[in-house]
Amino acid sequence: MNSGSFPEVRPRRLRATPAMRRLVAETRIDPAQLVLPLFVRDDIVEPVPLQAMPGVVQHTFDSLGAAVTEAAEAGLGGVMLFGVPADSAKDARGSGATDPDGVLNAATRVAVAEAGDALVVQTDLCLDEFTDHGHCGVLAPDGSVDNDASLERYRDMALEQARAGSQMLGLSGMMDGQVAAVRGALDAEGFDQVAVLAYAAKYASAFYGPFREAVGSTLRGDRKTYQLDPANRREGVREALLDVAEGADVVMVKPAMSYLDLVADVSASVPVPVWAYQVSGEYAMIEAAAANGWIERERAILETLTSIRRAGAEAVLTYWAVEVARSLKGL
Ligand code: PBG
Repeated sequence: MNSGSFPEVRPRRLRATPAMRRLVAETRIDPAQLVLPLFVRDDIVEPVPLQAMPGVVQHTFDSLGAAVTEAAEAGLGGVMLFGVPADSAKDARGSGATDPDGVLNAATRVAVAEAGDALVVQTDLCLDEFTDHGHCGVLAPDGSVDNDASLERYRDMALEQARAGSQMLGLSGMMDGQVAAVRGALDAEGFDQVAVLAYAAKYASAFYGPFREAVGSTLRGDRKTYQLDPANRREGVREALLDVAEGADVVMVKPAMSYLDLVADVSASVPVPVWAYQVSGEYAMIEAAAANGWIERERAILETLTSIRRAGAEAVLTYWAVEVARSLKGL
């Protein structure tokens, strides 16, 4: 009889060779499970490199087209577009977000034309890039973010994004009721095939720091009255359940690495796909440490993505998507 323990039981057998480890790996990453976030500006003639995110740029419409082609060739599942309007195009209600010719909607048309059926073109649905105050919604007279008035803007924004050809809307504003509001607006106009990705458990995180440079954020203050408190785990699951009840097709946890408990909890609690967003600060930390020779860059990147998948995320938004997809395919 096997004793059920050492010396008969030797877990190291399954780790002995690369072939054995490959065979018993519980978690794999497929390029189709990676989504590349892309930043687009309409007031530049050359791509602009981002200081705090080495290797990431703000795209022109031309370089956006090339980036989408590259993403498709690498086998990515999708791209997520963020518009970066000129400061002069920003106002209190974020009018650029609902302008059919606003930077994000125009960029969406470019990306959709380039992508064809090769990958899913997704768009960030939030007002922060378009408002002069930098908040994710419109403000009440007392300066607070007005939830229900913001929903009106989200409905209009959703329709313009759908008209531009976006196949999946990334609702990242953290307003109460945003999923139901957008779903209702889309369905009423015949866009019942446009999917809603709800940033359900989005935390008020310091790890968004470099992103604020990427989108030229004008925010003063913080987003703590609408994004989740990093102290709260149960509340993140509650948000995900509410979004599913409102009709979310996919729910997201964001950031990823400091919130793997949420990824695991949410994936155990909802009947829809769960994604995670490896955010700008997560990218910047590894790039900075690697640039100093303090960490093995490629191993660290793969380890983080594997861990996010292992925790329960089916897909991951990551700025390394193309590089990782290529290396997975041995290119
Ligand atoms: C809001 C939005 C943010 C990010 C994605 N969508 C910033 C914020 O909430 O302040 C952050 C992404 C990242 O840091 O990579 N439109």
